Amino acid sequence: MSRRPLIAGNWKMNNNKRETLDFLASFLPKTEKLTAEVVICPPFTNLYTAADKIKGTAVKLGAQNMHWEEEGAFTGEVSPGMLKEIPCDYVIIGHSERRQYFAEMDDTVNKKIKSALRYGLLPIVCVGESLVQREEGTTMAWVLSQVEKALKDITSEQLEQIVFAYEPIWAIGTGKTASAADAQEVIGAIRKKIAKDYNQDVAEKVRILYGGSVKPENIKELMGEADIDGALVGGASLKPDSFYALCSFQH
Ligand code: PGA
Repeated sequence: MSRRPLIAGNWKMNNNKRETLDFLASFLPKTEKLTAEVVICPPFTNLYTAADKIKGTAVKLGAQNMHWEEEGAFTGEVSPGMLKEIPCDYVIIGHSERRQYFAEMDDTVNKKIKSALRYGLLPIVCVGESLVQREEGTTMAWVLSQVEKALKDITSEQLEQIVFAYEPIWAIGTGKTASAADAQEVIGAIRKKIAKDYNQDVAEKVRILYGGSVKPENIKELMGEADIDGALVGGASLKPDSFYALCSFQH
């Protein structure tokens, strides 16, 4: 079974409106022939601007976070219905920066996944270990437990819609990439867990990305691994040239 590669750009709190327009003016004309699925995730305030420009292209839109409730007294939050209305296709859930700086927990990650799916948004669910955990040798147990908690009460039909991103925290924004073999080891273990807890069919369908200092120089090696289906990219997704180089790794 072949899974379509997915390259998602997580802009984090970068690229204002002018920069978003400049990025898209330069990036979009080149994307017509890309075979990988391409997603950009600008900050909330630029989602409508980006949605307007990517209309009619193959590029898809993602948000970086959402609340799990439909509406209500949640100052500063954005609901899944609001994202769908833009329209967003994807939403990043449980990024390590949300977990670290905004106290995002496994149970809220699980609630957000279910809520996103109810609204027809495809979740990109992030998991990954810290440097201390990597050095202690607890990476595998930690990551697999994050996956298990994220998937609490999720059916195999729902799971088919979910994308995972394995992002070792020590590799994010540091220039230190996990070796392709290390990334494959963890991602392969996630896929095996899904096969065991669900079934082989869904395990072969779910896309699992690697994230953490992915650059044009290392994308090919990462994508050469059997279970790595794409990349969640921060820094190298901010400029059209480097992001295009990543998206066209197969060409
Ligand atoms: P990076 O970020 O590519 O800048 O390391 C990846 C991410 O946080 O998704």
